[in-house]
Amino acid sequence: MNESAAADHARQGAIHVSAHPLTRHKKTLLSDERTDSKTFRELVRELTRILIYEATLDIPTREIVYRTPLEETRGDRIAIQIGLVPIIRAGLGMVDAAVDALPSSEVWHLGMYRDESTHQPVSYYNRLPSECPDDLVIVLDPMLATGGSAADAVSVLKEWGARWIKFVGIIAAPEGVARLQAVHPDVDIYVASLDRELDENRFIRPGLGDAGDRLFGTIEH
Ligand code: PRP
Repeated sequence: MNESAAADHARQGAIHVSAHPLTRHKKTLLSDERTDSKTFRELVRELTRILIYEATLDIPTREIVYRTPLEETRGDRIAIQIGLVPIIRAGLGMVDAAVDALPSSEVWHLGMYRDESTHQPVSYYNRLPSECPDDLVIVLDPMLATGGSAADAVSVLKEWGARWIKFVGIIAAPEGVARLQAVHPDVDIYVASLDRELDENRFIRPGLGDAGDRLFGTIEH
């Protein structure tokens, strides 16, 4: 990556809440309790695609010369290597759409769950290679609740050597945004919705329930 691109993102990260009408429409359907798992998975994919476009608005490109069927012309190619890091489980629901939008990206997995009594993130899977090969790493997780999982994931990625990290989620609570920004002020956050608050059980309100359970049909009855 060239130096100006590196300098460009050595700045304060920000929270980006998509204002797109499609995003607001799809997020409303997603969070409706009547939405079944099949539709929920489709909506997560559709929202991820939109959010990935928004999250990559500032990535550098380089000019290339190529031929159309009629003549030689100039065009653009993405100039950086991008890594996608879904947080297992719920982040897996976002991978296919993100890879569709960024077909030359690499996918690295981190496993993390939030302990239901302590609400603390527990790391249980990490197969990152010894060195980070990516110029930009995009963390994928639909939910930013307390922000503990995302903050820990970003810490792991920075230790790995990632220099430019963005977080792409679906919904966030203000508490989670504040925590991620406090621990990692350089990370841009992209979500479809900034919800009202966390409740006493650390669930996002109004929220959408447990994204992992709704994606994978594992809600206990
Ligand atoms: C959810 C979600 C995040 C985390 C957010 O995962 O997908 O990873 O909780 O909470 P936090 O911001 O308070 O850390 P969960 O623990 O339900 O695991 P799952 O993805 O396996 O369902």
